[in-house]
Amino acid sequence: MCGIFGYVGPRKDAVEMAVEGLKSLEYRGYDSWGVAWKESQFLNVHKETGKISGIDGKTLAGECSLVIGHTRWATHGGVTVANAHPHLNADRTIAVVHNGIIENYQELRDELKAKGHVFLSQTDSEIIPHLIDEELKTTGDFAHAVRRTCLRFQGRYAIVAVHTKSESIVAARTGSPLIIGKEKGGGYFIASDTPAFLKHTRTVQYLDDGEMAVTDGRSILISDIATGEERLKREIEIRWTADEAQKGDFAHFMIKEIMDQKESVARAVNQSDEEILTLADAIRNAKGTFLSGCGTAGMACRAGEYFLSIVAHKHVNFAPASEFKLFHGFLQPESLLIVVSQSGETADVLEAMQVAKSAGAKVLSIVNVQGSSIDRASDYTLRINAGPERAVASTKALTGQLAVLLLIAYALDGGVAQGKKVLLETAAQINDMLNPRYVVFLKEIAERIKDSKDLYIIGKGWNYPMAMESAIKIQEVSNIHAEGFAAGELKHGPIGLVEEGTPCIVLAGSDEVLPDIISNAVQLKARGGFIIGVSPVNNEAFDVWIKVPDAGTAQPIVNIIPVQVLAYELALARGKDPDMPRNLAKSVTVK
Ligand code: M6R
Repeated sequence: MCGIFGYVGPRKDAVEMAVEGLKSLEYRGYDSWGVAWKESQFLNVHKETGKISGIDGKTLAGECSLVIGHTRWATHGGVTVANAHPHLNADRTIAVVHNGIIENYQELRDELKAKGHVFLSQTDSEIIPHLIDEELKTTGDFAHAVRRTCLRFQGRYAIVAVHTKSESIVAARTGSPLIIGKEKGGGYFIASDTPAFLKHTRTVQYLDDGEMAVTDGRSILISDIATGEERLKREIEIRWTADEAQKGDFAHFMIKEIMDQKESVARAVNQSDEEILTLADAIRNAKGTFLSGCGTAGMACRAGEYFLSIVAHKHVNFAPASEFKLFHGFLQPESLLIVVSQSGETADVLEAMQVAKSAGAKVLSIVNVQGSSIDRASDYTLRINAGPERAVASTKALTGQLAVLLLIAYALDGGVAQGKKVLLETAAQINDMLNPRYVVFLKEIAERIKDSKDLYIIGKGWNYPMAMESAIKIQEVSNIHAEGFAAGELKHGPIGLVEEGTPCIVLAGSDEVLPDIISNAVQLKARGGFIIGVSPVNNEAFDVWIKVPDAGTAQPIVNIIPVQVLAYELALARGKDPDMPRNLAKSVTVK
């Protein structure tokens, strides 16, 4: 989704920093970008459609110390320069960048039009500088005008605004993230995500919903938008470093993050026993435990259902976060909602949490991003310690989420130590598996199937959610039509889709369901399917065998990894950029 960057302070290279900061937010997904900076008493604006990667900020502007910038992921209006942010008022004295959706924008736009305002874009965002302009007619104070403007919004937003007559940046949020970074020698950054300024500072303050911040680069004032009351905020040191957020020698973030799994699964297991046992108790004592998340994180939840059922004999219910509110009737104050999210900012998940909280239920989150909205709004949080995940396709976050959910299941069954042992052995097996020869082998398979129109994946038990996850990975980066099915369901319909040569990936373990899934693989083969087995043991049903370690209860963790590599190689073989998948954004902050 859109990215925001803002800076005010003693540095003179603000535009260059903004361009670099926006490049660090590229992973969020965008289709156009822009910056506005103050020089003398004027606002200069530069906007473009397409990618910012090749732009050198130095060539855009000379010395300047105040800038705002934006990467846009189109919602209202197409991908055009006019629709790109920053947006301006008529006399170009106010510039604004905006994330989110102003739901009542049509009504506000009509009101402004009636007053003579002319709009140059189709966006909801363009009304914001015009509304601030109107407010400035009755209050001379820029920050106050922004506050009054925000009070008129319905919907989720994060905005950053500047004015030619003010030395400050004004930022406000409700529903979309904004984080403030404070540099040691003076100067403040404001961004939608920390990688935008990690190179300069790791000292942050998080704006909460309904809060605004005003900074001139020397000090900052955070206040409540509705009441104007000052809010005192803790400064927090974030653990991630700028280097961790880079791709280093790898060609893409996706493959870097797949390879990171050699260490990240072990880091996910590094949880305090006491904390895991407390959370296991919370699940044990809850009257109804629900699991929820979106996309890949949702697939981790579905696998979690199997872990809790098979390892801990505990019944939990899963619903995708976007559907969760429809189950509100089952929530009670003693219920527990476990949400899973890499970014900690997914709007549908935040909504599910709101629904649970309204019923008085407690929320446990399993997140990657420290200080994210979900992290801060939860009653309990477990972090998966995956380090920054920048590729849109989630890989190491998934295996971290699976590891934490499996550990919780072991803890519920009284075996935290056993759970850690299993998972650390799995982490070592992943390290051995992800060797260069293995990747070359997967690349060869990708070359062989790259022109396929369709691809199907089957799994049983905890490999069923991994089959659906495999489909997500292949769809998003290679754009091949891929679908994941419960193996036993094939004969009830999906088998009708298989033609001569259709690639079918079979995810298996060495557990008691192996004979069933092999029998399903044979049924696919009999209809012409080209069978790619992902399994610790070979079988004559497989046309190609991708060997994985025998990981017992952790089998879904090792089975999904070669499919992640295969999806990556399929994207490359089809000429796609796996880090910039079509139509997708890393962090989905709209509903
Ligand atoms: O940040 P989250 O884990 O909450 O994101 C949820 C989904 O948007 C995400 O997993 C998405 O499905 C991935 N791009 C898939 O690779």
